[in-house]
Amino acid sequence: MNDFIKGLPKAELHLHIEGTLEPELKFELAGRNGIVLPYATIEELRAAYDFDDLPSFLKIYYEGMGVLRTEPDFYDLAFAYLRKAASQNVRYAEIFFDPQAHTSRGVPFDLVIRGLRRAILDAEKQLGIRAQLIMCFLRDFQAEYAMATLLESLPYKEWIVGVGLDSDEKGNPPAKFAAVYARARQEGYLLTMHCDVDQENSIEHIRQAVEDIGVDRIDHGVNILENPALVEKVIDRGIGLTCCPISNGIVTRSTKAAEIKKLLGQGVRVTINSDDPAYFPGYVAENLAEMGFTQEELVQVQRNAFEITWLPRHLKDAFL
Ligand code: ADE
Ligand code: ZN
Repeated sequence: MNDFIKGLPKAELHLHIEGTLEPELKFELAGRNGIVLPYATIEELRAAYDFDDLPSFLKIYYEGMGVLRTEPDFYDLAFAYLRKAASQNVRYAEIFFDPQAHTSRGVPFDLVIRGLRRAILDAEKQLGIRAQLIMCFLRDFQAEYAMATLLESLPYKEWIVGVGLDSDEKGNPPAKFAAVYARARQEGYLLTMHCDVDQENSIEHIRQAVEDIGVDRIDHGVNILENPALVEKVIDRGIGLTCCPISNGIVTRSTKAAEIKKLLGQGVRVTINSDDPAYFPGYVAENLAEMGFTQEELVQVQRNAFEITWLPRHLKDAFL
């Protein structure tokens, strides 16, 4: 089965580039930037990855990305991910980046996006993998900061296919960003957002995302299973879910594999992705293996993935 998974042409649609920062690269970038990490070895660093829910993960995730300072740092980060993804026969990736996690500590937006963009262009030429960027807003910051980030992104619009919403969901519902999303839509961006698994108001957040914001996709969104009317709505509208079983297993202590399979069986466009693979151990092939899918299901999930990509129709068809 693992050979079948490995050989299958894949699309990855839920991947935080800052969550691909492996300990080895973290040490290399720290050295390059004159930063002394509070760990002597890679093993010590890994041992400090002590998290069991979303907030405890996010604390380590934001601390970890402090070593990213220069354009070549962002280039190296993205190129390393794309090399790894290509080695698993990922043919196309939509990559989240968190500009506010960098601008809030004085790293310019321009430098972040230039590094990522240059890696994407080089990877396409050198590795044959295609990718596009999705800009995420941090939902635990104020909506005004998200709006300012949206405006800052406009000169780079050609390099960004859509917007997302991530970070700590507790007390930060989709409705908080309604005006930001309306403007993003006006500017031609496609829309997704995290509705993380087992949150305080999961169903209400999914409802707001679908009915009030009008998202094109939902990241995670597995709790939708609890509300058949919403399930019907996402099926009708062709809204896909980007699910991440290994990540679920760590932040909720269940991979939610049974729930994800049920949604797939009901006809929801479910996909399987890796989220933050340097922290939730496993890239897309390992996440697919975790699901215990039949070959038929594996093929269906990858068809779903290419179908819900934000590529123009003719490029989608070339993959399908
Ligand atoms: N930022 C990076 N990974 C995330 C996740 N799994 N949920 C919410 N925000 C994130
Ligand atoms: Zn995520």
